Amino acid sequence: MTLLRWINFKSLGDERGGLVALELGIGKTIPFNVRRVYYIHRTEQGVSRGFHAHRNLEQVVICVSGKCRIVLDDGSRREETWLDSPLKGLLIGNNTWRELHDFSPDCVVLVLASEHHDASDYIRSYEDFLEQARDG
Ligand code: TYD
Repeated sequence: MTLLRWINFKSLGDERGGLVALELGIGKTIPFNVRRVYYIHRTEQGVSRGFHAHRNLEQVVICVSGKCRIVLDDGSRREETWLDSPLKGLLIGNNTWRELHDFSPDCVVLVLASEHHDASDYIRSYEDFLEQARDG
């Protein structure tokens, strides 16, 4: 099964421009209760971000402007894709290593998260991540 789980959003845009509405809650567009929203913007050229996994956090990442490349890794395989459309979100589950690269200057990545920020939920060492993935 692929690590790249996309959620396609309905476009409500018309001749005036684009519009996307995300309904929150189980059974709606986003399949978990959203407790936190953040966005990454103004990333300096040549900078990569992420390089961590979360033990208990679901996220949907949406590139609402520009583009960047995302790498997902579950400890046994690594897949990558471009985030380049405001019409779809990438669902990232627990225990998934993520890296974001090649941000365009206008890139804005909106993230919907299932939990409040918790520094202790991060796995920031790739070696620790691999060890935990191996141990299940
Ligand atoms: P971090 O998750 O390390 O960002 P990235 O993986 O994109 O490089 O977050 C950077 C800093 O911001 C770090 O000190 C934690 C803090 N932070 C919060 O306080 N709340 C949040 O919701 C997020 C995502 C980060």
